[in-house]
Parts: sequence; C-alpha cells; structure tokens
Amino acid sequence: MDRFDLAVIGAGPGGYVAAIRAAQLGMKVAVVERESSLGGTCVRVGCIPSKALLESSKRFQELGAGLDEHGIGVQSPVLDLARMHARKDAVVKSNTDGVTFLFRKNGITGFTGQGRIKAPGLVEVRAADGSTSEVAADNILIATGSSVSPLRGVKWDGDLIGSSTEALSYDRVPEHLVVVGAGVIGLELGSVWNRLGSKVTVLEYLDRILPGMDLEIAREAQKAFARQGIEFRLSTAVTGAVAGDGKVTVSLEGADDLTCDRLLVAVGRRPNTVGLGLDELGVGLDEAGRIKVDSRFRTNIPGVLAIGDVIHGPMLAHKAEEDGVAAVEMLAGRHAHVDYGLVPAIVYTDPEVATVGATEEQLKEQGVPYRKGSFPFSANGRARTAGSTGGKVKLLAHAETDRVLGVHILGSHAGDLIAEAVAAMAYGATAEDIALTVHAHPTLSEAVREAALAVHGRALHI
Ligand code: NAI
Repeated sequence: MDRFDLAVIGAGPGGYVAAIRAAQLGMKVAVVERESSLGGTCVRVGCIPSKALLESSKRFQELGAGLDEHGIGVQSPVLDLARMHARKDAVVKSNTDGVTFLFRKNGITGFTGQGRIKAPGLVEVRAADGSTSEVAADNILIATGSSVSPLRGVKWDGDLIGSSTEALSYDRVPEHLVVVGAGVIGLELGSVWNRLGSKVTVLEYLDRILPGMDLEIAREAQKAFARQGIEFRLSTAVTGAVAGDGKVTVSLEGADDLTCDRLLVAVGRRPNTVGLGLDELGVGLDEAGRIKVDSRFRTNIPGVLAIGDVIHGPMLAHKAEEDGVAAVEMLAGRHAHVDYGLVPAIVYTDPEVATVGATEEQLKEQGVPYRKGSFPFSANGRARTAGSTGGKVKLLAHAETDRVLGVHILGSHAGDLIAEAVAAMAYGATAEDIALTVHAHPTLSEAVREAALAVHGRALHI
C-alpha cells in the first residue's frame, strides 16, 4: 500500500484546494471522494449550476420584458428549458474536468468511494460496488462539507418535494413554486424560476429575509424581489407537506394549507459527519454537531484535521478554500490565518446582495460607536447607463477611529464590488482611505467611494 503525507476526504472547494496547495508544498497527496466527478456540492449541484441558471434566466427575463428603451425590438423569447439545462450541465462539466486536470497536474492521487477513518493514519474507501481499499497517510483532512437540512413534517420525495438539487433540474417550469426559507438558496433559485415564469411564494419563519445580513439592506432587497413578482410570507411556520396527484399540499401553522406544483425546501444545511468513523475514533463535536478544531484546524485526535462546512464559521465555498489552504500551510510548518470577520457573503440575485464585516444591528448590540455613509446607485452614472439603478452601498465606520467595520451592498455587480471593501478592511483601512482612493469614472465602484465620503457628510453626487 502506498503511503501518503496527506489524505483528504472530500473533493469540494475546501478539499480539492487543500490538496492542490499541499501538493504545491511538496506533500504526496491522496483525495477520497464518493462521487464520480470532483468539485463537491459547489461545483456539481450548488454554486456553479445555480449561477449558470441565474445567468440564463436573467437573459430570458430581460428579453421578455423587452429592450424597447434601448431601441431594440425583440419578438417574444421562446424557452427551451432542456437546452438551458444542457448548457448548465456543460458548464458544470468544464469545472469538474478542470479539477481533474488540476489533480493530474499536481500529481494528486484520487480514490473514488466513501471514506471512513479506520484509525489515525488509515482511511478505508468503500466503492459503490461494495469493495474496499485502504489509504495510509500521516495526516487526514476531513473536508466532507454539508448537506440539506430536512424539515420536520415534510415528506421528501426527491421530485415534487425536494432541495436545491432538484430545483436545479426541474424538467418543466412549475406553475406555482413554493420555497421554504428566505435564505440564500431560496432567493437565488426562487429568482431563477420566477424569471422563467413560475409564480413563486417564499415562506419564511422569521419576520425578515436573509437573516444575519444587514437588516436595512435585506428589507430593501425584499422590496426589489417583491417588485419582480416574488411573494413573501414572513413569520410563517411550515408544519408539514405531502405530495400526491402531481401536487404538493403545504400545511402552515395558523393559516390555510397551500397547494403548489413544486416545493423547494431551503432551510439551511448541516455538516456531513456521519459514516466517517468519528464516533469510534472519539473525534469531538461541538453543540451544533460540527467537528471541533483548534486554530490549526486540528481535531482532538492527532493527525486528524477538519475544514470547511464541517467546522465552525460560515458555510461558504471561499471560506472552505481559505480553511484548506491555511490548514496545509500550517501542516507544512508555515504561518497562516483565516479571519472569519472578513469573509464576504453574496446572494446572486438581481440586484445582488453582498456584505462583509459587521452589520448595523451587530454594532448597536455590541455598543460600538459608528458612523454610516450610504450612496444610492440611482445617483451613479454608470448604473444609469446600464439601467441598474436599484440599491445602494452602505458603509459603516468606527465613530472615533474611522476604521471600516462593515460594508453592505445591494445592487448590480455587488458581488464584485465587495472585493474592494474586503481588501480595504483586511488592511485596516479607514473610510477616509477609501474616499481618498481614485476610482475610475464611470464605474459602479464610484458608489463605494461616495459611501465612504458620505460617512463624513462629503458625498459629491448627492
Ligand atoms: P440559509 O441559512 O441561508 O437560509 C435558511 C432560511 O430558512 C433562513 O431564513 C431561516 O430563517 C429559514 N427557515 C429555517 N427553518 C424554517 C422553517 N421551518 N420554515 C420557514 N423558514 C425556515 O440556508 P439555505 O438558503 O438553505 O443555504 C444553505 C447554505 O448554503 C447557507 O449556509 C448558505 O450560505 C450556503 N449557500 C451560499 C450561497 C452563496 O454564497 N451565494 C448560495 C447557496 C447556498
């Protein structure tokens, strides 16, 4: 049996990036993955296919709404859903193939099958046909990600009642799609099907959408999505759902049942820790069922590390990547650190929502004195040329030191604009630093500068 320096379990963004970096650092690396293609949830049934559908559906919706004001006449667009899915599948394949290529390039050995840690330094791999093999390694890195949280009373059938995985592949546009959960998945996939013609109703347990994000921005986002035709029912508890006769009946607490064609349950995800042999090994978990690790991503069992969605912190692909790189850098004796306070989060709706750092609610709760600067895209020249004037940039800075504490953006390309805020905050920038930085004209990024100027009442274009 070959012996490896590192065996990674899981080839999602956390695991595959860790494997590449470890190989670059000179380690002999094995990756165990149960799926036949690499890339994990993000590449196969998450970030990548959802963004492909968001892109296609946006174009369909734009053409349907007409481009008259641009002086472009368009006949009613015709939807070929099978072709849209085929394009999405091709995009996914080019990404999974890309990971395969990177493994080959970096001399990483792949094993296909379910990984289980038999003992420190030994991973058993169970292939789909039941046969087993073993991988020996000095260190084992658990990067098994997360899966959809079920909802009590909801009888999943993996068809009419399902998760984002099913919602990425509906073979017909549902007449009425009900989404449970006004989080990231609910809003992104709700947007896709709304644009393609479904009536979309989002049921949310809380009295707001996008919990955890800045409330003012979330409220404004909700209004924008409602204008697009998405119906929101907040403070609504789902008590059950059953499928029958091609329809789904959803029961609600204190309200009449709802009938729809498809139900998408998007109420969060939970870490994949089952079947890994953690109990037998005695790996410690926290109260939320995540694997407990120290600042070097080490579990309580020597030689067993964990990163990404199975440990604490936001369940985001880019956070898992950072974890993975940091974990193997430290294994190689180098310094590394991930600042969870600076992990941006993006919702790829239209307008997009992008956020980094503290929300206004958090600052109030912590009693941190702050100043706020906002700038609407309606006053930004480039946004006007694009006809994307919805939303704004909101920047929160410390009242005494002026240090930027949080930036929250609702608007077109918010997900790209947030990168400047992340970089500025990583370098400890003040609002004045951003205000004194030259921003090209005409760009959407000028709105970030204007929000920084607005912190001191100095915005120029409003
Ligand atoms: P989420 O945590 O973003 O949102 C779940 C929503 O469901 C919350 O608003 C919650 O209050 C609500 N909810 C919970 N129980 C409920 C109930 N019984 N009835 C009604 N509403 C209920 O989870 P989501 O959207 O499922 O996403 C899962 C994970 O995947 C998240 O960590 C998310 O960050 C990540 N993700 C990230 C994306 C991105 O970065 N663009 C895209 C998709 C997912």
